[in-house]
Amino acid sequence: MQRPTTKNRHMAASLRTISLFESCSDAELRRIDGLLTRLEIEAGQTLLSEGAIGRQFVIIAAGWARVTRAGVELGLLGPGSFFGEMALLGTPQRTATVSAICPMVVETVNPGEFRELLRAAPSVYEKVTRAVVDRAAMNENVFR
Ligand code: CMP
Repeated sequence: MQRPTTKNRHMAASLRTISLFESCSDAELRRIDGLLTRLEIEAGQTLLSEGAIGRQFVIIAAGWARVTRAGVELGLLGPGSFFGEMALLGTPQRTATVSAICPMVVETVNPGEFRELLRAAPSVYEKVTRAVVDRAAMNENVFR
């Protein structure tokens, strides 16, 4: 049987602190780690713009972002949350604008890596697809 290396065990422990990945096995986390690109974001930066064509899925490792649509605040997203899934799973235009309200650290994936991420871990697939349904329902209520 293959034992995880010390480095891999540290990596798995640090990724598991992100709530999107809290139910993942070490093997799933090793696969996921190879897909992620970490970025540091300044306070005030716009990460996604409503109506733009979307290419990235973003997971928040640290910090907070505000989600707005047509100037209406839809929510705040914090550590462990994620955004950008709707344009990758549905119509390609972003449904909302997401801006950093403080310095952030995020993990990003491109569309191919996003598909890999959903295949890598059933728990991630469930959380992301549930968020799409919940957020679409909320937005329909707010803008009906
Ligand atoms: P996407 O449409 O790709 O880009 C904007 C993102 O904002 C969207 O994906 C979701 O991740 C996020 N988003 C949209 N509506 C809501 C909402 N009601 N609550 C939280 N996040 C949302």
